[in-house]
Amino acid sequence: MKADEPWPKWAELSPETAELDDENIAFKKAIAAEYGEAALRKSWLAVCAKLESLTAELTEQQTAAIPELTYEEALSPTPELAARIRKAGCFVVRGTVPKETADGWFEDLDNYVKQNKGHVRGWPEESPCILRLYWARAQVEARTHPRAMALHEAINRLWHDDEDADKAFAAPLSYADAARIRPPGLPFTSLGPHIDAGSLARWADPTYRRVYDAIWSGNPDRYDPFDLTTRKKAQSAFFKGSAHSSVLRLWQGWTALTKAGPHEGSLMLYPDIKTAIAYVLLRPFFRPPADAADVLDASKWAFDLESAWFPGVWRKSSQELRPDAFPHLRLKAGLVHIPTMYPGDTVWWHCDMCHAVELDHVGEDISSVIYVAATPTTPVNLAYVKRQLAAFLEGTPPEDFSNGSDESKFVGYPGSEKLLLNGEAGRRAMGVSV
Ligand SMILES: [Fe+2]
Repeated sequence: MKADEPWPKWAELSPETAELDDENIAFKKAIAAEYGEAALRKSWLAVCAKLESLTAELTEQQTAAIPELTYEEALSPTPELAARIRKAGCFVVRGTVPKETADGWFEDLDNYVKQNKGHVRGWPEESPCILRLYWARAQVEARTHPRAMALHEAINRLWHDDEDADKAFAAPLSYADAARIRPPGLPFTSLGPHIDAGSLARWADPTYRRVYDAIWSGNPDRYDPFDLTTRKKAQSAFFKGSAHSSVLRLWQGWTALTKAGPHEGSLMLYPDIKTAIAYVLLRPFFRPPADAADVLDASKWAFDLESAWFPGVWRKSSQELRPDAFPHLRLKAGLVHIPTMYPGDTVWWHCDMCHAVELDHVGEDISSVIYVAATPTTPVNLAYVKRQLAAFLEGTPPEDFSNGSDESKFVGYPGSEKLLLNGEAGRRAMGVSV
């Protein structure tokens, strides 16, 4: 964000409430025993140095650091564009679906909510704007729209898997997630800077840990964030919690139903996917120097296997990030507003990316999106989608969102018409015919 912009007053949990569990120390010791202090320290110094130049670039670039693509460019990016996307780890696609289509979805979703007032669950409870709805017609259509699914396949192909040279994994599955209807005025303080796809699981699950082998072994430059080979087997929901997704989304994303610019209840991203996550992973192994003036001097941080504190980590929650606990990230500089989004545009970010929901909505209109991710066909994902199908057919909340509404009795619930699903590809994505 810009230098003159105040840091938003997101709700931030303090170190005192973190889980200081001895088990945390055991995870650190297991990693240190495998890779050694020298390798971890080598990575730490390299990553902290890289963050200095990276955040200087982001301070300059701000929103321009997020690539903006036409729909056609996203379907077949040039090698240069693909490299830019992989570096940033996030991007915006203009006109994923026509404006009229998105307008229709908003009208439909808004009606559905109004018709069922008092029964729609949401978050925060006192003024819900993230709505725990999963089977509104607009959501089902947005997930399986032919243009959307062609895009999901194309952007999944930016990843690779040593065990799947033909990239069969890129065929999209449909992950039912919520929707947002956020009116102007009310601040939303609950989703400050964080990373999804698990929290402590990255250190605790031996398979997930191996995804970051290059980082632990002193070679953070060799870490490839787009390698699916091991990641497809990792358990981001290693510790159960409603914040964790059972599926791996290669790109998290949403489809804009209304126009929303910066500070209008939109999204902020930290447009780097290789260095920031390496820093977050290494951070629990190092203790800051006693003199606060030295805090940015990485060489003065002490190697520490005895502290149980993993900054920003709570087993049931997403990985949280805050400026004082992660000083080298320079979050204020690195977290940038996404550009103004228009109905039918989509925004995408890598599953390891730091992001935040804007605290303010100072615009005049409702900011509304449907959460639609790019979900690859992996064994873990396919198993979930088959379980999700039962909820879809019954109109009940999917497994990952058990606190959602029972929509089967809702006015306007699309019922069996849902089976249309935009044809065979949509039926496959929902697990009907796989
Ligand atoms: Fe998130």
